[in-house]
Amino acid sequence: MTDTQLREADVSKVLQDVVDPEIGRTLGRLEMLKDVRIDAGGKVHVEIELPTPAYPHRERITQAIEKSLGDASLRPSGPLDVVFSSTVRGKNAGGTLGLTIANIIAVGSGKGGVGKSTIAACLAYGLNYFGARAGLMDADVYGPSIPHLLGVDGAKPAALERKTPSGETFTRIEPVVAGGIKTISMGFFIDPAQAVVWRGPLLHRAILQFLKDTDWGPLDYLIIDLPPGTGDVALTLSQSVGLAGAVVVCTPQQVALLDAVKAISMYRQVKIPILGMVENMSGEIFGRGGARRKAAELGVPFLGEVPIEADIRIKGDEGKTAALFAEHSPARPHLLHVCEQTAIQVAKQLLDTPSMPTLEIL
Ligand SMILES: Nc1ncnc2c1ncn2[C@@H]1O[C@H](COP(=O)(O)OP(=O)(O)OP(=O)(O)O)[C@@H](O)[C@H]1O
Ligand SMILES: [Mg+2]
Repeated sequence: MTDTQLREADVSKVLQDVVDPEIGRTLGRLEMLKDVRIDAGGKVHVEIELPTPAYPHRERITQAIEKSLGDASLRPSGPLDVVFSSTVRGKNAGGTLGLTIANIIAVGSGKGGVGKSTIAACLAYGLNYFGARAGLMDADVYGPSIPHLLGVDGAKPAALERKTPSGETFTRIEPVVAGGIKTISMGFFIDPAQAVVWRGPLLHRAILQFLKDTDWGPLDYLIIDLPPGTGDVALTLSQSVGLAGAVVVCTPQQVALLDAVKAISMYRQVKIPILGMVENMSGEIFGRGGARRKAAELGVPFLGEVPIEADIRIKGDEGKTAALFAEHSPARPHLLHVCEQTAIQVAKQLLDTPSMPTLEIL
């Protein structure tokens, strides 16, 4: 072994034990350390593979690495060079349905009208903004609002009959693409003014069909906008796919929080992991901080606050939700923060359920 190799091995050994500042596990356990190299000038090059492109404050990893090398008396001669890449890993979410989706995230609430659909759409756009492949499925078959929020109402997805090699026919639905994300909604298939009565088994079938007949292709994250109220759809999902977990949206006031608590208990009953709570419409009208306190009380992560802002409603009404991520949009930093925290919780959740087979999507 040459001198350099020896030192590279020493550095690697120390770095495997560095604790990731966001996820709280070692770089070794997270399989984030991809390469350590010391060049002829003695400069140390480290390659870190993040579990999501939405990883916040990556400079904190560099700081943690510098500190641990110093503590181990392995301070390099030159400045440290840390490069980052990212690969989203996931549960084999839709294995039995033949899906190539790494992580399926349900967005729900106890109460209607708290901004679930808005937050669901923003999760898809935000994760896409960070460079992940994101899709959005509207599971609210009674009151689908995703087509309008994305400015694609009236779109008609093509449904193509295909044949398997053994000659059986099956349907592929081409998702509608809106601002870079693939989406599907009952709103594309029914007249918006028409009331639809769905009985349980039919609802179950419609949801499964959207999941498995839509040509999602490989996705890092599929966001599912749940309908308000009862847990029918949550139950269907928990029985048919390996959900990464649920994001629970609530408003800050006490009454709305009680409904969020009910929703969390319902998800727990059907074994859907809770990724965390988002406080939406935070501000003077409904107050602030209620969801953060409730999350701490319930022992679930808090994913961030999104203020109540006329612009969010206006952009939604105009079908321009994607514009909330424009450079000077006041909602943007809040929404990006929620996306980052959600992605981190998904990565964490994956480690907490090691029995699930992991899937690397190319
Ligand atoms: N942070 C916010 N500030 C201002 N308006 C908001 C905010 N979030 C959502 N809204 C608005 O509130 C209304 C309800 O939002 P949305 O449709 O997303 O809620 P929902 O929980 O999905 O409702 P439902 O239970 O009917 O499915 C919309 O007009 C939306 O634009
Ligand atoms: Mg909705």
